[in-house]
Amino acid sequence: MNPEIAQIEQQIKNYTISNLDELESFRLQFLSKKGSIQELFKLMGTIPNQEKAAFGKSLNELKKLAQDTFDQAKEAQHSTQTTQVSAIDDISLSPEPLPVGSIHPLTKTLQEMKNIFYRLGFNIADGPEVEDDFHNFTALNFPPNHPARDTQDTFFVRKDDDPGIPDLVLRTHTSPVQIRLMEKQAPPIRSIMPGRVYRNEAVSPKSYFLFHQVEALYVDRHVSVADLKESLITFVKLMYGSDVIYRLRPSYFPFTEPSLEMDIWWGSKTTGKWLEILGSGMVDPNVFIAAGVDPEIYSGFAWGMGVERIAILKYGIDDIRTFYENDIRFLHQFI
Ligand code: DAH
Repeated sequence: MNPEIAQIEQQIKNYTISNLDELESFRLQFLSKKGSIQELFKLMGTIPNQEKAAFGKSLNELKKLAQDTFDQAKEAQHSTQTTQVSAIDDISLSPEPLPVGSIHPLTKTLQEMKNIFYRLGFNIADGPEVEDDFHNFTALNFPPNHPARDTQDTFFVRKDDDPGIPDLVLRTHTSPVQIRLMEKQAPPIRSIMPGRVYRNEAVSPKSYFLFHQVEALYVDRHVSVADLKESLITFVKLMYGSDVIYRLRPSYFPFTEPSLEMDIWWGSKTTGKWLEILGSGMVDPNVFIAAGVDPEIYSGFAWGMGVERIAILKYGIDDIRTFYENDIRFLHQFI
């Protein structure tokens, strides 16, 4: 064999093609118009006639070798390229984090409250958000001219002068669920009733036209104020820790007698302040009568807690509006 052909054949066999640059160099060196194999074809004219056939044959074989080598290397490069794109290089790498949602602080607070009351033996009940005047006011012993019935506070869904057509309101508190519960279930009752309530109030850092309450009702024989206090104190200690600073104050509600409010100290010892979290009391006998429970046999306590207030104290939030604006930067703090 012509020594030049033999030399190029050796070069081709020794050539390593491990990337696309080397593939291109290979093509330029051996297969292009100016490549070494084409150069040898040019020598054809200088070859003595009797050797031409053999020279041409080995040259064609060389060219085929170069082409096959190139084709195979190209195929190999192509498949590594695609695997590099589609497969995972390093399966031990952590994956790109998926965007995850977070639990709304009110939902979180409510879940914690439910867990605590579940431990204290309360079950969960609910009632409608559109209420009639009887359940929202009358059965709860609101006198006919009580200011809370005033349009200032109440969103009326239907208000008719005809006394035969009952007013419908967006419930202004969860207390009407107490009545609904007693209407359909005989004591003993030990339930919490979480839900939304609505009041026609100007929006400010402290108030919003809707908020959430957790109502409670405990009705049985011999239920006392001591039971009420014990339940409330146990709740705040479980919610905020045993060093929580609280106070119970006498208050007034038409549907309880006596009535108490509970405050929690918010902030530092010197610059903090009391924040009211709930109203409560012993169920007024008139309420029992309206709901069909005999006050001679049963007594009970009730409360209505503000969920936003509980959450504000838990998470140090100072503007109630942030609960409803759904600003992702706020919500993501509660993962
Ligand atoms: N319903 C009252 C309110 O929204 C809160 C309340 C006070 C509920 C005393 C009660 C209670 O059950 O006993 O302001």
